[in-house]
Amino acid sequence: MHDKHQEFFDLMAAEWDLMFTAEDLERLSHIVESLGVEAGSDILDLGCGTGILFDMLRRKVGGAGTVTGVDFSFQMVRRAHRNFPHHNVNVVDADASDLPFDDDTFDMAVAFSAFPHFTHQQRAIDETHRVLRPDAKFFIIHLISSRELAEVHHEMGGVVEHDAIPPEMKLRKMFNSSKFADVSIKDHPGLYLASAINVK
Ligand SMILES: C[S@@+](CC[C@H](N)C(=O)[O-])C[C@H]1O[C@@H](n2cnc3c(N)ncnc32)[C@H](O)[C@@H]1O
Repeated sequence: MHDKHQEFFDLMAAEWDLMFTAEDLERLSHIVESLGVEAGSDILDLGCGTGILFDMLRRKVGGAGTVTGVDFSFQMVRRAHRNFPHHNVNVVDADASDLPFDDDTFDMAVAFSAFPHFTHQQRAIDETHRVLRPDAKFFIIHLISSRELAEVHHEMGGVVEHDAIPPEMKLRKMFNSSKFADVSIKDHPGLYLASAINVK
């Protein structure tokens, strides 16, 4: 199935790694520190792009764990492969709303700067729920608030013009309908961090 975002992100891929400042990386690293990633765990990175989170995550999971990135932009996946040829990193070209993994495969899922772009957000949540093990957490992360993000996308226009994080009540309902529990949402200037726990 073709999605208009695929072409957009394919075109962005070559320059993508230049988008991040040293400050972004430092803030991201602090956030990753706070997620409670355990050595030996299997982590799913949805909409992984070129793999900006991979190094932070793979060092935490160590040799006994894995980091699996999923992205439906072939060009992003190609660069992610090239950037991280490590034995504990996998990159898969797939849509977040149709994940090619067995049930109960991962101990944690993260979507950094990606969830608003998913065309089928409820299906992506449902699929994430399916592939997570019981009690695993799903994190949606941005380095800006939902309002700031909507403004950025609006200014960019084109295919991302209306891409947004659902309003808090709607996102809570979406998580609940997938049987995620303990939903927490922090949304203030400079940070958006939603988390939910998978109850099977
Ligand atoms: C803004 S980029 C963020 C990439 C990466 N997480 C980062 O922060 O560098 C959003 C990514 O989500 C991917 N994406 C958008 N919709 C997707 C979908 N339905 N399934 C898989 N990946 C998707 C895009 O191809 C793109 O690489």
